[in-house]
Amino acid sequence: MNPHRRARAADRRVYLASHPVLFTLLAATRHRPLLRLGGTVLVHGPDAYRQVLTRVPLDRIAEGTTGGAAARLMGGGLLFDQDGGEHRAGRRAVGGLLGSRAVAELRPAWQQLLTGRLDGRLGERGSPFDLVPLVHELAGATAAALTGSSAPPPVLAQAALRAAAAAARDHLPTTLPRRRAAARAVEEAAERLNALLPDPRDAMLAVAAVTTTAAALPRAAAWCGRARLWDRITPELAAELLRLTAPSPVLPRVAAADATVLGTPIRRGDRLILVARHAAESHRDQPTDRAGATQAVFGVGPHACPGATLARAQLTDFLSALAPHHPRIHRATPARRTALPSYASLLVTAGPHPLMEREAPCVSSSPERPDSAAPMSPAPQPPPAPRCSASAAAPAHSAGTCPGTPPSRPRTGAPSPTATW
Ligand code: HEM
Repeated sequence: MNPHRRARAADRRVYLASHPVLFTLLAATRHRPLLRLGGTVLVHGPDAYRQVLTRVPLDRIAEGTTGGAAARLMGGGLLFDQDGGEHRAGRRAVGGLLGSRAVAELRPAWQQLLTGRLDGRLGERGSPFDLVPLVHELAGATAAALTGSSAPPPVLAQAALRAAAAAARDHLPTTLPRRRAAARAVEEAAERLNALLPDPRDAMLAVAAVTTTAAALPRAAAWCGRARLWDRITPELAAELLRLTAPSPVLPRVAAADATVLGTPIRRGDRLILVARHAAESHRDQPTDRAGATQAVFGVGPHACPGATLARAQLTDFLSALAPHHPRIHRATPARRTALPSYASLLVTAGPHPLMEREAPCVSSSPERPDSAAPMSPAPQPPPAPRCSASAAAPAHSAGTCPGTPPSRPRTGAPSPTATW
């Protein structure tokens, strides 16, 4: 199989594992730019996605939207739930924290962390190294630097990931007692996160930074490992990997007023499922509008992600730190209880340099086994390749038990939005 196709097929399993029903339905309806299902409108097409985000007034605090979660769970007041002048002032403040100059100042700290962790472990040929805890530490350290938290980075990252996952599960249609338990779990998770932050208003910033980083970096590294891209790491490749993986694939929103988009009427109160993954044409190697597709993963218009510069820089540095080790995927386990499609664990081993690879047939094929927690019938895998003894022993990994996280409740029989950003 062409290495890009293999990377794409494996990444698709991570995506589908997180919300199997919703994402299968979205994939099946992808060819329709907009599709109304009762009171829900699926928005797939790049033009439709852009028009909704720039022209349709959106209810920033409606239940089941990102802003709604911010307002209810974290006390609100951070961009997602704001509008107008209040939002512009918030953007200016966050712009100072996340602008190019601030990113340049943060960069040496995370580069040092990466080099230290990887040189110590990945240098030892043959022993598998899990990239997921490293990425959580990196994300936690960045969130701590942005919020002034003194919590240990892995603790802050876990608290943010749990709060996001609990908020996502809270939207699942379920029985009343379970719904109450889910609501309690959200409150507790939000309280734990707030307790780690000097200013609880920063909770959504920590959640936005940690969940997206935890989702994006391992998936991009897995893509590089499978497609053998380690000698081609550049900022442009990092941006392209973000387009191909669309770490925040769905934006759940609600219309605040009537509108018409590409001839489809939108009514006030309609639930809008904006599929960033399809607007970014993640399923295509060559998007029709590359600049538009590259931006689409970060949203468009006044609420477009202010963390994009940081996210691209961090991914470039992460892949650059991995590149000298030519990591190969040893075992990949998709996560089941996260807000965004992610890996629960991504074990890699240091690989040989490509020149050595040509001379050493025992490592010329990927040692990766089929993903241990594929959510559905896994795509056909190539037969196991001959492996060096050094990479033969893989620790057993158990999969999560959750059947998938959360669609928020639809008003009709339509699919539900997830609590993504
Ligand atoms: C790969 C990484 C990331 C992706 C894919 C991503 C994606 C997104 C998307 C799709 C939105 C919604 C845009 C819209 O509604 O039009 C958003 C908003 C936001 N993101 Fe990110 N993001 C990432 C990383 C980050 C990071 C690292 C931070 C902070 C350090 C961050 C902070 C925010 C904030 C504060 C908002 C709300 C903006 C507003 O409502 O005005 N993001 N992000």
